[in-house]
Amino acid sequence: MTASRVDFSGVPATMLKTLHLRALDAGSANPVLGDHHAAQAVRRIDHDWRRLDKRGAANAAYAVALRGRIFDDLVAEFLRQHPTAVVLNLACGLDSRAFRLQRPAGSDWFDVDLPEVVELRRDLYAEEARYRMLAGSVTDPRWLGELPAHRPALVVAEGLMMYLTPERNWELLRRLTEHFDTGEVLFDGVAPWVATTTQVLKGYFHRWYRSPAYLTSHRHYPGIIAETPRLRHIADVGVLSDTDAAPDPSVRRYYRIVRKLVDVEDSVRVFRTGF
Ligand SMILES: C[S@@+](CC[C@H](N)C(=O)[O-])C[C@H]1O[C@@H](n2cnc3c(N)ncnc32)[C@H](O)[C@@H]1O
Repeated sequence: MTASRVDFSGVPATMLKTLHLRALDAGSANPVLGDHHAAQAVRRIDHDWRRLDKRGAANAAYAVALRGRIFDDLVAEFLRQHPTAVVLNLACGLDSRAFRLQRPAGSDWFDVDLPEVVELRRDLYAEEARYRMLAGSVTDPRWLGELPAHRPALVVAEGLMMYLTPERNWELLRRLTEHFDTGEVLFDGVAPWVATTTQVLKGYFHRWYRSPAYLTSHRHYPGIIAETPRLRHIADVGVLSDTDAAPDPSVRRYYRIVRKLVDVEDSVRVFRTGF
């Protein structure tokens, strides 16, 4: 157990949700991601997890686990091709990607998040040779200067860009592609209808709706990429493009119903860009 009770508000609180969802997946009969580090972390953190044990959590756990797996596969492929890569995992929260994946001996990995999140993260995970945790805002240009710039770089931003304004995302991408010689940036984004829904909920039902609103949707990305010198779109994929493959029949049923109402496939997409 962590020494003091953990409670965050605003965007940092969202990483407790994704952690909890990955732990749910890990504990399910047929895990999609199987992140046992998440399950362990949930046991170790003193937090009122019951508030997150809502009906329908298995549906969200499936989406978050699938998103994590898509990112993991892309990172693993990059590391296979570039064993001396520098990986910069932005807004890492309590995610265990650095320990889930095989890191080649010649690679370096940096996990970055806000200071209060990194403080908690240090209670759960230890730094190792060629694995470091950096405390700072992704909007702060200072810490980037410390990182090796002349090796292939892989920047990962899972569950981050929707919380920043389009302007801040553009500044971030521009700074990253100016710092590193070459590499890829992986990020995800939500559909415009998803972002608008959170903004309406936040605007009118803020007492009940505690989550932060999404400020950027994936409709902004083509413009942001086009405005970022050197950055090019490589591919993107809908996280929920094949929900009939969900191992849990109740999750399959849920998405079959939701699919009739909204464009589920487009709701969350993972983008691969290069420079
Ligand atoms: C939805 S969580 C995602 C965490 C992790 N990537 C995962 O998938 O579990 C959003 C994360 O963004 C981080 N974050 C938000 N704004 C940030 C900023 N300006 N600088 C660094 N991290 C930030 C939060 O602290 C939080 O950990």
